[in-house]
Amino acid sequence: MKYKDLIKKMTLEEKASLMSGKDFWQTMDIERLGVNSIFLADGPHGIRKQAEAADHLGLNESLPATCFPTAATVANSWNTELGEKIGQYLGEEAVAQKVNVLLGPGINMKRDPLCGRNFEYFSEDPHHAGKMAAAYIRGIQSHGISACVKHFAVNNQEERRMSIDTIVDERTLREIYLTAFEIAVKEGNTKTVMSSYNMLNGAYTNENIHLMREILRDEWNYDGVVVTDWGGSNDRVAGLIAGNELEMPTTAGETNKEIVEAIRNNKIQEKFLDEAVDRLLDLVFNTEEVFKNPQKDFDVKEHHRVAQQVAEESIVLLKNEGNILPLKKDKKVAVIGDFAKQARYQGAGSSIVNPTILDNTLDCLEESELTNVGFEPGFERYGKKSKKKIEQACALAKKADVVLLYIGLDEATEAEGLDRQNMKIPQNQIDLIDTLYEVNPNIVAILSCGSAVEMPWIGKVKGLLHGYLSGQAGAKAMLRVMTGEVNPSGKLAETYPIRYEDTPAYHQFPGKEVSVEYREAMYIGYRYYDTANVNVLFPFGYGLSYTTFEYSDIEVNKDGVTFTIKNNGSVAGMETAQLYVGSKSEDIFRPNKELKGFVKVFLQPGESKSVTISFDERTFRYFNVKTNKWEVETADYNIMIGTSSADIRLEASIFVEGTGAVLPYDQDKLVSYYAGKPNKVGKEEFENLLGRKVPVSTWDRTKRLGYNDTIAQCQYAKGAFARFAFKLIKFSHWFLRKIGKRETANLIMMSVYHMPFRGMSRMTGGVINMSMLDGILMIVNGQFFKGIKHFLKERKKMLKVAKDIN
Ligand code: BGC
Repeated sequence: MKYKDLIKKMTLEEKASLMSGKDFWQTMDIERLGVNSIFLADGPHGIRKQAEAADHLGLNESLPATCFPTAATVANSWNTELGEKIGQYLGEEAVAQKVNVLLGPGINMKRDPLCGRNFEYFSEDPHHAGKMAAAYIRGIQSHGISACVKHFAVNNQEERRMSIDTIVDERTLREIYLTAFEIAVKEGNTKTVMSSYNMLNGAYTNENIHLMREILRDEWNYDGVVVTDWGGSNDRVAGLIAGNELEMPTTAGETNKEIVEAIRNNKIQEKFLDEAVDRLLDLVFNTEEVFKNPQKDFDVKEHHRVAQQVAEESIVLLKNEGNILPLKKDKKVAVIGDFAKQARYQGAGSSIVNPTILDNTLDCLEESELTNVGFEPGFERYGKKSKKKIEQACALAKKADVVLLYIGLDEATEAEGLDRQNMKIPQNQIDLIDTLYEVNPNIVAILSCGSAVEMPWIGKVKGLLHGYLSGQAGAKAMLRVMTGEVNPSGKLAETYPIRYEDTPAYHQFPGKEVSVEYREAMYIGYRYYDTANVNVLFPFGYGLSYTTFEYSDIEVNKDGVTFTIKNNGSVAGMETAQLYVGSKSEDIFRPNKELKGFVKVFLQPGESKSVTISFDERTFRYFNVKTNKWEVETADYNIMIGTSSADIRLEASIFVEGTGAVLPYDQDKLVSYYAGKPNKVGKEEFENLLGRKVPVSTWDRTKRLGYNDTIAQCQYAKGAFARFAFKLIKFSHWFLRKIGKRETANLIMMSVYHMPFRGMSRMTGGVINMSMLDGILMIVNGQFFKGIKHFLKERKKMLKVAKDIN
């Protein structure tokens, strides 16, 4: 232990006090020993430091900070150097705002396009997400503070995120859901990891010994801090045993007492606490050094320019029929779509940033050389039908050579705490496209949203630029791509299926009441489409440029693959070449190809470059559930270089001598997986893969409700009051949606409906303690008067203790 002497000077109570927050954002201090509080703040694409009222859903204002493009956007740049640069700028702002731990990046896998937080995550591929995340972390931590990679792990949906039990087989867990974290820990050297809200195979991740001790600490040698997601602690002592150093936010000392009692009653050894204190102290001392230097403000304009540069490199050109783009300067353009006036530039929830500056297309257009014939919103942002708006848009479109159509998803659709209900853009936007197409087919659509959408309307637009959620400077970036000042180089980091029904987890998302079964196993994203031969709209890794690239001269040896890329066009451009690897052996089922490396090169017209992508210890490995280790299969491997996952330009093969491990599977029992058709796996076959029975996936409606049951379960509670409260919540949600208050309605779902009862205590900073919660549960379970009495008695006790302390 590093701080053994200091820890010896602490009382048991002092040590335990460090194990949970002092308030919503700060850790506890021990003044007499010179241990200061440190400040933790969101988030992944800009600092959300709340100076006044605090919350974890982005409801109250935060200090102005640069709103960079979200992770889903920057992922499209496939540029780790750029990721590191954003990290550096984020880190600089964090230091300027006295933030010690920046709560990001978020790197959960995009298992399903409907996950409400996909806009905050990088990719459907672990290698890609891991490399981008490691770059962000290096950048952030170069300032002497800490990043916090989140949410560890398998937090791939928002629905019931605080209670859902994720059932996933060990190999899929390792290969898909943990690999990005492994890269973030080993290559990014993150100093902090945030555990997720959900359960993994029957235990909350924060208490999951296999995840937290055996994998994170013992295998990956992680010696940093684990913080709970806000309000995500279930059993504090179990969390400590699994290696959690910090519960956030404060519980006003309630859970610290539980730790003290557990040690006094010999339920756990004090050494667990000492080790956790040691690691927490390291974080505190490590991240406060930088604040000893004089602080300076960051350069708002320069940071805005960087946000623009990042957005420019992340925009994806998806369609360019008849080379409608880039726009010639003499073209008359009509700007249509509400998003041109009020940019859709970030998602909702804890990642929300209060931007320093906010560009919008209409203002930026005035500075460009395009001739603008006017602007019409064309549709109501929140989806209401308006025939008049369509007519006005069509009248304007007739006057222009090209229609610039700004469409996408609104702010209430992509939000933390909720999943999307479908993959469509609002019908009123589709109606607009259909009608505009009749009057002027020269349409360039500019899409703003943070996740994949269906595009049945794609045939009606000639150009399609996807800006994702491009941050505060995204509007200008988009115009520069449109006019050709910037040659687009973004490529999708997730697949765009044709229809939601085509997705691999379609039958298993978001699971049932208690659990979600990952029956598709490792076949998520392109791993599935490519192996199961399912046509997609746009494949993973896809994106066009204003120039074309030619690939040649592939050479493979044991260290890596070398090839040449040439810019064949007349403008300079950047190309991302992707290395995919597939095994030719059929003994162990696996996807046809998996991303194992990528490189982005800048090329002048006519220029060619020879590039090398090195193999590493992850290139040929698979996780063997029999040996419980990473192994390499002895086989011939396809080495594929693609411009996307579906467009392989060069191929070679290499023989690799493996580790000779026993084969892990009985093929006859895993027929769908071996056939590469894992989208409709039955329960029995999934159990064969898991090696055990799946738990019952629905609520037990006969039992008393407890701490970890959700408010939604009040619908069948024994207490009439609870059933009434449930109806009231349902009605309020319905009513708020009906009157168009979707954001407030969402809030009910996010912060009440799916919350476990435990959250009432964990989220309220000590206003309701667990003993008071017992009273509430009595009411819920039909003991109305007894419950009220208990609640009031416990409240009185708590107030007395608080008074005595003060
Ligand atoms: C989110 C985290 C976030 C935390 C603090 C939680 O609701 O899941 O990502 O860092 O709140 O705002």
